[in-house]
Amino acid sequence: MGTAPLATGFEGVTLYPGYLDGAAQADLLAELAQAGVFAQAYRPTMPRTGKPWSITQFNLGPLGWVSDISGYRYEAQNPHSGTPWPAMPDMMRRLWDELSDFPAPAECCLVNLYTDPKARMGLHQDRDEAALEAPVLSLSLGDTCVFRVGGFARGDKSSSFRLASGDVLLLGGASRLRFHGVDRVIAGSSQLIRGGGRLNLTLRRVTKPDATP
Ligand code: SIN
Ligand code: MN
Repeated sequence: MGTAPLATGFEGVTLYPGYLDGAAQADLLAELAQAGVFAQAYRPTMPRTGKPWSITQFNLGPLGWVSDISGYRYEAQNPHSGTPWPAMPDMMRRLWDELSDFPAPAECCLVNLYTDPKARMGLHQDRDEAALEAPVLSLSLGDTCVFRVGGFARGDKSSSFRLASGDVLLLGGASRLRFHGVDRVIAGSSQLIRGGGRLNLTLRRVTKPDATP
């Protein structure tokens, strides 16, 4: 595991191309399947309107990020099953330890599943965490996507680059609150996931470390 970072043109946005090699990607995918990610992924809905997203989601670790008609929030239990989220895979814990430069562990591993070839994610900020001093670490698996990074207001100038399977992207420091999103997924660009598609695993620290027991 491990590659040198590439500058993306945005201070605090760091790309590690191919950080996980093919064998590690396949191991992680098997572990995610075992944890029920594919079987139990659900379709989130938008706050207020209840409009369904084009992706499906699941969570691993002590806290899960949830979006539904009542809003965005973190939950210790899966609201669809009423049970705690499965444990965070060791490989994701290790990625956080190696790359986050943050003294406390990640609490949420959000899994975004881009299964529909038209699935995308509009520009948004990750701002539901109290620990904004910790970076957001995201790992891509499967088909390549066109990832967009903007500024600190929705209409700011933005630019895009590709994220391929095994790539790790960090949004930290001055860029922690940059708008970002996924324009599209390039179907057929990876053989990792049977049937195609893309998975994104996002690690976040949610609570301030000194506020936890
Ligand atoms: C996200 O911002 O939550 C997901 C980004 C991605 O799918 O790469
Ligand atoms: Mn995000």
